[in-house]
Amino acid sequence: MVTEKIVLNQPERFAKIPEISREKLVRAAEKATDKLEEFAKKNPCAFPGTCTKNFKYECAENKNWEAGMYTGCYWLAYELTGNEFFRKEAESHIPSYKVRLDGKIGIEGHDVGFPFMPSCVAAWKITGNEYARKIALDTADYVMAERYFPKSEYKCIKTTGHHTMMDTLMNATLLLWAGKETGDSKYTEAGLNQSITTNKLLIRADGSSYHHYIFDPETEEPIKGWTLQGHSDDSCWSRGHAWGIYGFPVAYDYTGADFLPGLHRDITYFMLNHLPEDCIPYWDYDFISGEESRDSSAGLISACGMLEMAKHLPDTAEQKNVFKSAAAQIVEAVIDNCTGDIGVDYDGLVNKVTHAKPQGQGIDECAVYGDYFYLEALTRYLKPDWVRYW
Ligand code: GLY
Repeated sequence: MVTEKIVLNQPERFAKIPEISREKLVRAAEKATDKLEEFAKKNPCAFPGTCTKNFKYECAENKNWEAGMYTGCYWLAYELTGNEFFRKEAESHIPSYKVRLDGKIGIEGHDVGFPFMPSCVAAWKITGNEYARKIALDTADYVMAERYFPKSEYKCIKTTGHHTMMDTLMNATLLLWAGKETGDSKYTEAGLNQSITTNKLLIRADGSSYHHYIFDPETEEPIKGWTLQGHSDDSCWSRGHAWGIYGFPVAYDYTGADFLPGLHRDITYFMLNHLPEDCIPYWDYDFISGEESRDSSAGLISACGMLEMAKHLPDTAEQKNVFKSAAAQIVEAVIDNCTGDIGVDYDGLVNKVTHAKPQGQGIDECAVYGDYFYLEALTRYLKPDWVRYW
């Protein structure tokens, strides 16, 4: 929980909202959707793996956390272009989510919203697909029964190893959505408890975050903060933090809980105080300069989260224009520096994504979630009435 006063170190840096020209955004979206179509047509795999290896996606099936974002790329591309090819591709994925739910494939842990929100919930929102809606609602019931732990003061969704994570905030969106969709407050309460527990345990006094928190499986009492993909247990892993910068505004939109805007401002200011001059985050906020790897996906997820929160803040909120300024600077920096020629042919839509540095996976490469949040950021600018999938 934040206890220090968090101020922006360089308010002048975010005082003006730069306008990304429409022409530049349209060109970026055309390039990205053309590349996605080309990839889909030449790709023999059902789904790509999480991240590229030597800039090429390996073949995978629909069983990982990020698969939903591959389907989500097609939905976003469909909304951006109106090209029926993308709608058909996205729709062709939907039955594989029913297979996942029935077989409990890759949802036995906490990754329950990442797969189903930008695929099935998006299908329902865009085309009114009742079959997809039911898959998502049935998954929410499965989460309530099997993955949500309500006994202790620290109610939350947990992995099989009894961890909860910053990432889990995005998974809790499934419960928040199910609450709104069905009118049953049990889902909303559980979804909001993820934010409450995250605030109590994973958010530190200075506005940074632990990646994971470990619980005792017997008592459900918290034990300690930990990291999987960050630099150290005590550092702030950039993408984990970004899941909070997006996850808390979504929880705020569904619940209106009044602690969320202040908490969100504090953790976002922590990120902005650690954002390098060129606006592409390092893979961990222990680094603010030098040769360490970058994670453009952390920038894009944070930009989408700031744009989301800005929609729900009154004009009098001091952070509103800061968020709009920072988001535009990050998105423009990604267009300019992470989508161009790097001397090798890369499968993804954006480069300079670091998936898991300590594990040596996808370092300065591309990743499905980077592609998805790039398209989502472009969609947010080009289609201001776009309806969020989360
Ligand atoms: N496990 C979620 C992530 O890599 O961001």
